[in-house]
Amino acid sequence: MSTIPASQTELVEGTAIDLDEVMATMHLAFDPAFGEAWTRGQCAGIMGLGGVWLLLSRRCGRPAGFALARGVLDEAELLLLAVQPEHRRFGIGRALLDAVAAEARSHGATRLHLEMREGNPASILYERAGFHEIGRRKRYYRGHDGSSFDAITLACRL
Ligand SMILES: CC(C)(COP(=O)(O)OP(=O)(O)OC[C@H]1O[C@@H](n2cnc3c(N)ncnc32)[C@H](O)[C@@H]1OP(=O)(O)O)[C@@H](O)C(=O)NCCC(=O)NCCS
Repeated sequence: MSTIPASQTELVEGTAIDLDEVMATMHLAFDPAFGEAWTRGQCAGIMGLGGVWLLLSRRCGRPAGFALARGVLDEAELLLLAVQPEHRRFGIGRALLDAVAAEARSHGATRLHLEMREGNPASILYERAGFHEIGRRKRYYRGHDGSSFDAITLACRL
């Protein structure tokens, strides 16, 4: 278990030049069995669009996690949230989620939504943050062995 105190965690705004850091965390955080990770090309493509923002979390200057989100009018979407395994359960995921919500609110969003694989333990984090289920997409995620998994759409009022 890491012994770095949570107080040495910082959140910083990221840009496209931080793509290597994002992809390093992506590969460590997402299990390829579930097909939730994005490719470098998908990340680079979306980061070039208006209304998209990236937050990076670092512990003692080392990459720990990130959140990628976008806002359109009064809706915001959390596209990706990931924390490296060695930095989990220190409140980083929640801090990133709260920062995304605050940023979305400051841009006039009144609702934040996201897609999550059914059965992902991240649901506990989202429920505790006030999200509830609003829909489902059948076989939305495709794992590396061809297995498919439903996506649950969650939303929370800001
Ligand atoms: C989901 C994820 C971002 C959580 O990051 P984290 O930094 O560990 O989350 P936090 O420490 O802020 O967790 C806050 C609370 O959420 C709940 N929680 C988070 N992860 C949990 C887990 N794996 N199992 C059960 N509860 C969990 C707990 O209530 C936790 O509080 P506690 O540690 O005091 O019990 C991280 O596990 C991750 O990167 N997972 C892989 C990628 C992923 O699935 N992202 C979400 C896609 S929708």
